[in-house]
Amino acid sequence: MDYFDYLRSFIIRDSDYIEKLEISSHGRDDIQPSIEPELGKFLGLLIRLTNAKKVLEIGSGVGYSTLWLGEGVKATGGRVVTIDNHERTHKEVSINIANAGLDEWVEKKLGNAEDLIGTLSGNWDIVFQDSGKYLYPMLHEKIVNLTRVGGLIIADDTMFKVNPDVRKGLGDHVDKYNKMVFADTRLYSTILSVGHGITVSLKRF
Ligand SMILES: C[S@@+](CC[C@H](N)C(=O)[O-])C[C@H]1O[C@@H](n2cnc3c(N)ncnc32)[C@H](O)[C@@H]1O
Repeated sequence: MDYFDYLRSFIIRDSDYIEKLEISSHGRDDIQPSIEPELGKFLGLLIRLTNAKKVLEIGSGVGYSTLWLGEGVKATGGRVVTIDNHERTHKEVSINIANAGLDEWVEKKLGNAEDLIGTLSGNWDIVFQDSGKYLYPMLHEKIVNLTRVGGLIIADDTMFKVNPDVRKGLGDHVDKYNKMVFADTRLYSTILSVGHGITVSLKRF
C-alpha cells in the first residue's frame, strides 16, 4: 500500500454519491481534474469547524468539490454558491447536485467568475477558489473584500509552480497569487501539502 492508498483508506465520504461521482469521473479527459478526496474531507472539516453558513466556490467543475461543500453546509444549516462558466459542466453540476439531494443547499451560477463576482455582496465565511489559475491573482482583492473578517479563503493547486508535470504558465499564476497573499497583511496564511497544494488564508481585518 502506498502513501495515498493508506491516506485514502481512512477517508469516509460524506455520501455514497460522492464516491459514485469519483468513480464515474475518473479518467475523463473532457473535464478538468476534481479535487482529491482528502481535500474534500478537509473542506468539510473546515466548514463544520467554523460553522460556516455562507460558502462561495469559484470553479464548480462537474461538482465533485461542490458535493463536499454541500454536505458541509447541510450540516451547518448554510448554503453554497458555486460558479462555473462552462455550459456543459454547469449542466453536469446541476444534475449531480440534484442526484445527491443537495438542491436545497447549493445554488449554481453559470457565467464568468470575473463578471459574477461583482454581483455578490460580502460577508462570506469561506471562499474556495478552484477556477482558471489566471483568475487567482486577478480576483484576489475582490475575494478578500467579499470574505468576512475571521473568514477563510482557500485556493487549490497552489504548489503548481514546483510541479514539473504542470504547464509553466499555470505555475506562474499561482506563484503570483501566493506572493500576493503572503504580502497581504490582512491575511494570516499558510500553504498545506494537500493534493497539489492549498493556500489557506484567514482574514484578520
Ligand atoms: C479544476 S476545475 C474545478 C474542479 C472542481 N472544483 C472539483 O473539484 O470538482 C476548474 C473549473 O473552473 C472553470 N472556470 C475556468 N475559468 C473560469 C471563469 N473565468 N469563470 C468561471 N469558471 C471558470 C472551468 O470551467 C472548470 O470547470
